[in-house]
Amino acid sequence: MVRRVAVVGAGSSGLACIKICVDEGLEPICFESSDDIGGLWKFKESPEQERSSIYRSLVTNTSKEMMCFSDFPMPPDYPNYLHNTQLMQYFRLYAEHFGLHRYINFQTTVRSVTQRPDFSLSGQWDVVTVNRDGEEEKHVFDAVLVCSGHYIHPALPLSDFPGHEMFSGRCFHSWEYKDADACRGKRVVVVGIGNSGGDIAVEISRSAKKTFLSTREGAWVIGRMSDNGLPLDMTAINRLNNVLMSLLPQSLTNWSAERAVNQKYDHKLYCLRPRHRLLDKRPLINDDIPGQILHGALVLKPNLKSFKDSGVVFEDGTVEEDIDAVVFCTGYHVNFPFLPPALSDGPQGELTLYKRLFPPSLLRPTLAVMGLFQTKGPIMPIVEMQARWAAKVFTGLSRLPSKEEMLEVMKSDMKRKMKSYPCPRQAVLQVDYIPYLDFMADKVGVRPNFLTLLLRDPVLWWKVIFGPCTPYQYRLTGPGQWAGARQAILTQWERVTQPFRTRVVPEPDSGPSFLFSRWLLMLGGAVVTAVLMSKNETFPVPQGAARILDRCKIFWRDSWFTG
Ligand SMILES: Cc1cc2nc3c(=O)[nH]c(=O)nc-3n(C[C@H](O)[C@H](O)[C@H](O)COP(=O)(O)OP(=O)(O)OC[C@H]3O[C@@H](n4cnc5c(N)ncnc54)[C@H](O)[C@@H]3O)c2cc1C
Ligand SMILES: *[C@@H]1O[C@H](CO)[C@@H](O)[C@H](O)[C@H]1NC(C)=O
Ligand SMILES: *[C@@H]1O[C@H](CO)[C@@H](O)[C@H](O)[C@H]1NC(C)=O
Ligand SMILES: *[C@@H]1O[C@H](CO)[C@@H](O)[C@H](O)[C@H]1NC(C)=O
Repeated sequence: MVRRVAVVGAGSSGLACIKICVDEGLEPICFESSDDIGGLWKFKESPEQERSSIYRSLVTNTSKEMMCFSDFPMPPDYPNYLHNTQLMQYFRLYAEHFGLHRYINFQTTVRSVTQRPDFSLSGQWDVVTVNRDGEEEKHVFDAVLVCSGHYIHPALPLSDFPGHEMFSGRCFHSWEYKDADACRGKRVVVVGIGNSGGDIAVEISRSAKKTFLSTREGAWVIGRMSDNGLPLDMTAINRLNNVLMSLLPQSLTNWSAERAVNQKYDHKLYCLRPRHRLLDKRPLINDDIPGQILHGALVLKPNLKSFKDSGVVFEDGTVEEDIDAVVFCTGYHVNFPFLPPALSDGPQGELTLYKRLFPPSLLRPTLAVMGLFQTKGPIMPIVEMQARWAAKVFTGLSRLPSKEEMLEVMKSDMKRKMKSYPCPRQAVLQVDYIPYLDFMADKVGVRPNFLTLLLRDPVLWWKVIFGPCTPYQYRLTGPGQWAGARQAILTQWERVTQPFRTRVVPEPDSGPSFLFSRWLLMLGGAVVTAVLMSKNETFPVPQGAARILDRCKIFWRDSWFTG
């Protein structure tokens, strides 16, 4: 009988795990090595060893309605994308509301988690912790939820670049970067175009003399803002979209998405364009890179090749002299020093996990690793669902397949993902946002049934199918049902628009006659284009068709919003 669960870490994942354990009648005991909750999101003025570290200006790249916990919407007045201090505020509200603090032992580090001698029968773990006075303590737990994060050990690939010992400038990892103060008036190279690389390059380029952004692959860059200035993920993460995308030919969806993105700024012109197609990989979310390129503050360069005394050489042979600093935004090593080494049996010594959650080699499924995945959406709602599934598995209400079956599933998942991510280390981490959530929701018994929903509550059904896939959808039915879920879905757009309402805006003239005449104009345009296309066979048909589609789309969208 599983009762006592160790939760390692009190970041956003740890908090969700504590709350879910309490919901499921388990007894969570959380160990947090620092003196506060929030993990990664707790800003520190200077980086601390063995801790994650963020820059002062970090703002979320996922919006508040999409990234909140499923039974705790963010306050309506919060902006849609949050500064790190405000996200911390939300975590404090969450912890306070559900009384999570009493389960957390602060300044207590988990040293080791090992299977007990009778593990094959009991499934129990020995957990050794060290407190602030250096005192060791040994505990026995029925299950373990690993929430220790994976942005702790910076990967600084200096040895890949000959000559770095001679370089007179400063080389450092984004882990050490706090703000651009030290780069004012300098010539700086930023290596790597991940989310951090993009943010840091933009920030430095605002005050530096010149900033070079070096990238091996390039990237598709998308702003946080979608059509009409609404949050990108609120329009992109949508059940209907998901179905349509899987029905249409993939090269067509890529083509039309790329076309829309290139209309804002041509990725080829801006030297951003990567080899892969837009929907193949997670795009870079950044609002300011194109602007900084447009006024020459930021210069795109290929991969770094080597260092000179005071300069750097790029792979195309170009040299930039008088470089003062090189910032490596080259990611992190993922490791879990406190876990049994036998669990890290992947090809590169990484943890192997069934459905990014359970080590398949364990004789008893009493350990789960939270948050060790990447996706085109927010992390928190997925981690919360992982915790709900893990709790069900721990208590025996949901069963895992046999080890062989799990390995088989992992192999076929991997094969599918390798198409988009040729690097196995990256591929293994990827999950598809809605399908993964739905899969786990199914196991937990909280996946909405669309047919019964349609019959019972058509208004809600409409919002769930045609609207954004907000986390509240997984609190409508089944275990852990939340009475406020329906209302939260019905009011989600109100909470999106509320922070915008800061000024009384005069109404434009848009009576019915105006709408009607515009509709006529649209129809006329479509007819004229169609006639032109049929008369002139050299007319570029896809272009013409796309234009008509665009017109219609704008029309429908606008009338949707004004109506
Ligand atoms: C720059 C950056 C921006 C991001 N932006 C977003 C975003 O906008 N939206 C989004 O959804 N995700 C974002 N992420 C992903 C982010 O990882 C998750 O949002 C989330 O913070 C992960 O939380 P976590 O609790 O799993 O890990 P963490 O926040 O890293 O927390 C881990 C906790 O465990 C503790 N710990 C570690 N080891 C031990 C130990 N041995 N014993 C005891 N305690 C231990 C640590 O002290 C820490 O408090 C971003 C990540 C980065 C790096
Ligand atoms: C295009 O997009 C889809 C996602 O819809 C992706 O799976 C596919 O492999 C992409 N690539 C190409 C070349 O079509
Ligand atoms: C947001 O940024 C983090 C940090 O780089 C990244 O891991 C995550 O995937 C990004 N989220 C999205 C939706 O792109
Ligand atoms: C047909 O279209 C091409 C451009 O696609 C144009 O150059 C040509 O003049 C057009 N011919 C007629 C008859 O309109």
